[in-house]
Amino acid sequence: MKSLFSYLERNKSRFINELIELLKIPSISADAAYKDDVLKMADAVKISLEKAGCDKVEICETPGYPIIYGEKMIDENLPTILVYGHYDVQPADPLELWDSPPFEPIIKKTDIHPEGAIFARGACDDKGQMYMHVKALEFMTSTNQLPCNVKFMIEGEEEVGSESLSWYVKRNQEKLANDIILISDTGMIANDIPSITTGLRGLSYVEIEVTGPNRDLHSGLYGGAVANPINILTKMIASLHDENNHITIPNFYDKVENLAADELAEMAKAPFSLNDYKEALGINEVYGEKGYTTNERNAIRPTLDVNGIWGGYTGEGAKTVIASQAFAKISMRLVPNQDWEEITELFKKHFESIAPKSVKVKVTPHHGGQGYVTPIDTIGYKAASKAYESTFGKTPIPQRSGGSIPIVSLFEDELKSKTILMGFGLDSDAIHSPNEHFGIFNYLKGIETIPMFYKYFTEMSK
Ligand code: BES
Ligand code: MN
Ligand code: MN
Repeated sequence: MKSLFSYLERNKSRFINELIELLKIPSISADAAYKDDVLKMADAVKISLEKAGCDKVEICETPGYPIIYGEKMIDENLPTILVYGHYDVQPADPLELWDSPPFEPIIKKTDIHPEGAIFARGACDDKGQMYMHVKALEFMTSTNQLPCNVKFMIEGEEEVGSESLSWYVKRNQEKLANDIILISDTGMIANDIPSITTGLRGLSYVEIEVTGPNRDLHSGLYGGAVANPINILTKMIASLHDENNHITIPNFYDKVENLAADELAEMAKAPFSLNDYKEALGINEVYGEKGYTTNERNAIRPTLDVNGIWGGYTGEGAKTVIASQAFAKISMRLVPNQDWEEITELFKKHFESIAPKSVKVKVTPHHGGQGYVTPIDTIGYKAASKAYESTFGKTPIPQRSGGSIPIVSLFEDELKSKTILMGFGLDSDAIHSPNEHFGIFNYLKGIETIPMFYKYFTEMSK
């Protein structure tokens, strides 16, 4: 593409500074205390799309946070790309584990990012990756090289389940009509090993409440004679895996697809060092379902994990007490064909059935979503592959990811189009964790690769 490289060179410090400004806004969707900041971020996205050359940009109200819709339609006979991203971020806690404040972005060099990385909550997930698309559009419009139509749909509730987005998509099928959906909200293997995400896991998230006696009790006067909800809850949770780390919920695996030997062999070809993996995480040994490799465990197998557990006394010193209640949050990552609502029901039924009579158990489903696999014999995948080849000088490897973007399967159901997941983050970028960051290399490579996708997708669609 004409002048792409020189345009990037000339504008890269502005591109970085603009992203830094967006990262200063704490748009945490999970915490109502940040409502004004989430709305401020929505405005900032709107303005950025207008500046990048969209002809029409709207802040679309929903029952929750607004969706920013923007478009530049140049010719109805040309294909239309729909770009999706999210402007909300995860909560930043635990704050004390950050080396610099989460909403005061700074650039630091790391071993993996010798050219520097921007440290801030949302740097990689997903403000940095979303903004690559805005800057790619700016490049294409300002150099008169936009080859097709483009629509943007940027939401503010991805990190809390995208409820308003499903509401919006179901009501706006025509407006959102497109030939392909393009998302940068995943990762790649390494900066010198480009990959394209071809699968996402589904999710079922539940909350558990175990209630024993009607009040907190003296653990001496009552201990041993009354069920302790924390003891019971932990025992029930422990029983959810057997000695092979298989999940024990009846019928849980019924619909899990078993990959054919050639697909497994293909997966195993992706470069991976178990030693580097262990070292990066500071663990002596990996752990998981018997009979599967680490990459199989975290991509094509379903899981069940406790995400939080609480109850009783956790303050300073000791308090001898049997708490009346204990709580846990549990997530299950699901693979394609497992239906998240069905799995949530199976969990609820099983968990209630294993509760002893001495306690009451309540299971409350939160959000969830289906998994997704994208075929690689499509124009969309081939165009993406060519785009990476042109900017990385290497053919990208198709790779299934363990993460979830539940809205992707809804897009396919409601809008009848496929999604291409062009992620530029690295697993080591610490998304959802303290010290989240996004490599400058990755940010600029994204801005460089996206216009190439537009070009090849348009050419190959003819
Ligand atoms: N961008 C992530 C998902 C992701 C990250 C997929 C890296 C693949 C690779 C997204 O923002 C996210 O965090 N999703 C949640 C699910 C959501 C319903 C809260 C997740 O995966 O936990
Ligand atoms: Mn994300
Ligand atoms: Mn996320």
